[in-house]
Amino acid sequence: MAKFTSSVSKGAGALLNWFDDRLPVSKFWNATMAGYMAPKNFNFWYYMGSLALLVLVIQIFSGILLAMHYKPSAAEAFASVEYIMRDVEWGWLIRYMHTTGASFFFILIYLHMFRSLLYGSHKAPRELLWVFGMFLYVMLMAEAFLGYILPWGQMSYWGAQVIINLFGALPKIGEPLTQWIRGDYFISDATLNRFFALHIIAVPLALLGLVLLHLVALRENGSNNPDGIEIKKNKDADGNPLDGIPFHPYYTVKDIFGVGMFLIVFSFVLFLWPEAGGLFLEHDNFIPANPLVTPEHIKPVWYFTPFYAILKAVPDKLLGVLMMGASVLILFFLPWIDRSPVKSIRYRGTWYKVLLAMFTIAFVRLGLLGMAEGTPAQTWEMRVWTLVYFMFFVLLFFMSPGAKTKPVPERVTH
Ligand code: HEM
Repeated sequence: MAKFTSSVSKGAGALLNWFDDRLPVSKFWNATMAGYMAPKNFNFWYYMGSLALLVLVIQIFSGILLAMHYKPSAAEAFASVEYIMRDVEWGWLIRYMHTTGASFFFILIYLHMFRSLLYGSHKAPRELLWVFGMFLYVMLMAEAFLGYILPWGQMSYWGAQVIINLFGALPKIGEPLTQWIRGDYFISDATLNRFFALHIIAVPLALLGLVLLHLVALRENGSNNPDGIEIKKNKDADGNPLDGIPFHPYYTVKDIFGVGMFLIVFSFVLFLWPEAGGLFLEHDNFIPANPLVTPEHIKPVWYFTPFYAILKAVPDKLLGVLMMGASVLILFFLPWIDRSPVKSIRYRGTWYKVLLAMFTIAFVRLGLLGMAEGTPAQTWEMRVWTLVYFMFFVLLFFMSPGAKTKPVPERVTH
């Protein structure tokens, strides 16, 4: 049975059919794209997932090219990166694609996660989708941290020193654990080698596996939407959701438009402002790693600074580490902390809008404070915003079940 006809030639159609008889190409295409009904009211926030996929591909592609010239040894790493920047043909572009790509990945993921808070996408029946997303986020943080040590600059070395030493705060197992991570008594060639292996093989594989699980879980229940209404509740006589439209061509076209817009912005930064004034690539990292000279001001890259600020806000080291861990861990439980009967912010009360605004301000402010020098006044401010950060979850848990909501319409609004 001919399933494909080609507008290009009869031969192309026949070739596709040959494959289709041996591999479920059309079945897969229909189940996930042409026959998959998505809510018709997606907006700007629904671009981020496909763009995150695009950046994942950019990172893998540029990473493979970088690995062809990079030398994972303490003696040669820094010079090999400089060699890539100056002597390898287009090497500067490949490296800047990778470093700018890392920051853009986090920008997209933060917007992607924020969308969930707006429309309640983490709530039932999409809890597992959110949990896979959180594993992706943690893996992404690990990937970025491991990659940052590779250029073997001052910040690579001292940043890793600070973060690995955090594990040392754990009672009893702390010291042996830090040694086990480093593979040595101090950060050395052995550490660089294992971080390289993890950065280019282990973590990317885990990321790809998790993306697959994330997408399978997404297709199982279908996407949420800005109204937070389950479109499967209203179906026509053929069993198709009344508020659904086929993902292909409607959303493939929409996503391609998003890709175009994104690439314009990405290229602008990539070609004209790749270091973002030290935000994407820190100035101290252009100095080779020197275990004998501590940089004046050690701080992680911007996407880690909200959590770093929580760590710094707490005077006790162990408690600080635990609070920092808790600030990420608590996000895993969001689907069960948010007990609101409605999903979308459109139909929640004003209290939620205020709470979410405060949480967002706290996160951004903590990020900025995490980059600052840490004067006593700043430390106090970090404490206040840390409290606001955690209070979001506490208040959400207690207020969400009983709070007043607006009536949710039967069908999605447009
Ligand atoms: C490598 C990282 C990630 C990739 C490639 C990715 C990809 C995607 C894609 C393609 C979609 C469907 C399109 C869209 O709704 O935008 C999606 C939906 C979703 N993602 Fe992710 N994602 C990633 C990380 C995360 C993270 C870190 C979270 C949260 C912790 C998350 C939570 C969600 C949720 C809740 C949805 C459903 C949203 C809705 O239907 O309203 N994702 N993701």
